[in-house]
Amino acid sequence: MKAVGSYVWIWLPGDGNPTLCGFLRWQGRAADFAYVKSYQTNPSAISVLPDWSLTKGSDSLYPAQDDALPGFIADVAPGRWAEFVLERLNGAKANAYEQLLQGVHARTGALEFGPSHREPPSDDGSAFDFETIASAVADLDAERPVDPRLRAVFRHGPSLGGRRPKATIAIDGEPWIGKFCSVQDRGPEPPRMEAFGLTLARDCGLDVPDFKLVEAVGKPVLLVKRFDRQSGGRRHHVLSARTLLNLSERQSLTDGSYVSVAQQLRRHGLRPDEASRWFDRMLFNVAIGNTDDHPLNHLFGWDGRHLSLMPAFDLEPQLSAAEDRLHEMVIGRAGKEGSLENVLSQHAEFGLRRDQAEERVQRMLAVIRSNWRQALEMVDLPDTSSVRYALMASAREHPATRGDNEGEDQGASMSM
Ligand SMILES: Nc1ncnc2c1ncn2[C@@H]1O[C@H](COP(=O)(O)OP(=O)(O)OP(=O)(O)O)[C@@H](O)[C@H]1O
Ligand SMILES: [Mg+2]
Repeated sequence: MKAVGSYVWIWLPGDGNPTLCGFLRWQGRAADFAYVKSYQTNPSAISVLPDWSLTKGSDSLYPAQDDALPGFIADVAPGRWAEFVLERLNGAKANAYEQLLQGVHARTGALEFGPSHREPPSDDGSAFDFETIASAVADLDAERPVDPRLRAVFRHGPSLGGRRPKATIAIDGEPWIGKFCSVQDRGPEPPRMEAFGLTLARDCGLDVPDFKLVEAVGKPVLLVKRFDRQSGGRRHHVLSARTLLNLSERQSLTDGSYVSVAQQLRRHGLRPDEASRWFDRMLFNVAIGNTDDHPLNHLFGWDGRHLSLMPAFDLEPQLSAAEDRLHEMVIGRAGKEGSLENVLSQHAEFGLRRDQAEERVQRMLAVIRSNWRQALEMVDLPDTSSVRYALMASAREHPATRGDNEGEDQGASMSM
C-alpha cells in the first residue's frame, strides 16, 4: 500500500489556536510521526513527549511493536466504543488510521489531524440537544437502526477513547462527556456506580472533574466536565500512563506500574507533591476496589517541561473483580494485588516515609468509612453486600484497621 498521511496540529500551552507540529505517515499497518521543520524552529514549540525532544531532526517516532500508532497519538485516538459506532454506521471495519481521522475537534487532548499544512482542520459545530444524543446512543448501542439525520451526532461521539457508550455534549457552551447505560450492562447501572466512585474520590480530596448524574430516555447518564478543554479555545496536551512508561498495548496488560509512573513524576513533575498525590490515586483505587485502573485510565498534562496529574476519571468499584482484587497496574512488591500492605510496600518511591504513607491510608479510609453510605444514597444505589465487599476487603486486611467494625450497626463483616 502507498504511504498516506496527515498533518498533526497541536494547541500549544496558552494558545487558543493550533500550530502545525508534524506529519503522521500511515504505511498500511502502522504510522510513524516526525516534527515538521517550521515546528522545530518555533521558539514556543514543545516536545510532544518528555523524552522525545525537538532536536530529533528528521528522526521519526515509530509505534511500539505490534501497535499501529505512536503512543502519544494512540492516547487521543478513538476507543472501542468508537470502533463499534463506526462499524455500525459505515457497515465496515475501519483501520486505526481511518478511525483516528474521525471526530475532528472532540478528541481528548491538544492534537488534531488534517490534510493541509496551511489550514488546521475545521469544526462545523453542528449541535444536538441532549435527549436527541441520548436516544441516538441508545439506538446504536442496542443495534437498532439510527435515523440517518442523527448520524452527525456521532461525528463527535466516536472520537473519544474507552469502551462504554459515550458522547461529547455541550452544556451552557462548555464541553462535557456523557457516559450512558448499555443493553449489555448487568448489575448496578454503571453511570450510578461511577458517580458513586467520583463522589467518594472528591470526599477523599482527589482532584476530579465536575460531574452530575442526570436522566435521559429513562436511564441514568453520568455527565463529566472535560478537563482537557480550557476557556478561549485552549487545550491541554495529555499523555497516558501507558505512553509515559513507553509500553506497547500488549506490554501495558502486564507492565503498567504505579511506581514507574511515580518515578516519572519525580523526574518531571510540576509540583513537589505530584508523586504523593499519585500515591493517593493508587490508594483510592485499592480502597474502593477500582481494579479497572489500566494505564489508559490515567492522564497527565505535559507542557514541554513538566508533567502534572490530570483529574481522576473512570473510578468505579468493580463488583465482579472484588474476589481476586487484582488490579490492572502493578501496585507494589506483591504485584497487582489490591491490598493496603502492597500499597505501602514502596512508599519511598512516592516520596513518602512509611509513617506519612500510613497516615494517608488512615485518613482516606476514615473518610470512606464515614461517607460511603451517604454517597450510595446520593446516587440512588442500594447498599448490597457486593458493593460493601468491593469497598471493604482492603481495609479489613490492614492491621491498623482491624476491629474497627466493633459497634458497627450494619453487621459483623463491616470494616469501613
Ligand atoms: N473528563 C474528561 N475530560 C477529558 N477527557 C476525558 C475525560 N474523561 C475521560 N476522558 C478521556 O476519554 C477516555 C474514555 O473515558 P473513560 O475512561 O471514562 O471511558 P470508558 O469507556 O469507561 O473507559 P474504559 O474502556 O476504560 O472502561 C479516557 O481514556 C480519556 O482519554
Ligand atoms: Mg477508561
